[in-house]
Amino acid sequence: MSARGRVRTAVLISGRGSNLAALLSAAEDAGFPAEIVLVISNVERAAGVRVAEDANVPCRIIPHGAFPSREAFDAAIDAALKEARVELVLEAGFMRIHSDGFVRKWEGRILNIHPSLLPAFKGLNVHQRVLESGVSITGCTVHFIVAELDSGPIILQAEVPVEAGDTKASLAARVLAVEHKLYPEALRMVASGRVKLENGVAVFGEDC
Ligand code: GRF
Repeated sequence: MSARGRVRTAVLISGRGSNLAALLSAAEDAGFPAEIVLVISNVERAAGVRVAEDANVPCRIIPHGAFPSREAFDAAIDAALKEARVELVLEAGFMRIHSDGFVRKWEGRILNIHPSLLPAFKGLNVHQRVLESGVSITGCTVHFIVAELDSGPIILQAEVPVEAGDTKASLAARVLAVEHKLYPEALRMVASGRVKLENGVAVFGEDC
């Protein structure tokens, strides 16, 4: 833990960084159990890099293309996390799949947010597929990361209605607004020890 007893947390991004902004904003509260101590982007020009800079949070650019393999890229991420004494990793629009070794090493200490009600609509192009499917309820999910994509034990979910006339953009915006509340809440739960990954299962404490 950091000097103030807050869990030292890193956020991994590849793009816009709106979830990063929501997490930073929640962590501004001194009573919040996590502190964002590092942002890592694999994309140098990602808008989220500016979000980190504006918040005066150290941001490391680690371009995946500079490494010969997934393992080597993950080793560089792991080294940056270690150097910053990171305890918890949150992926927020991070568009790379990790090596199994990296996932195993961070098991129970690495989370992701996905813009659907998992296990429905794993993968990419979610909102388009939601609209095509005709479902009337979608949502977002925060889960522990495991080796299989978008398949880890669920920490928190929220529903979002699909409305008549929705476009991909209007639906994405409605879901994103909910993501911005859900991710800080999930971080609060994990950082305060109210939910843990035990033997591959999310275990919730009594006060959850
Ligand atoms: C979010 O919709 C998140 O659920 C998904 O990627 C998007 C990232 O958006 N994994 P942002 O970069 O946080 O604005």
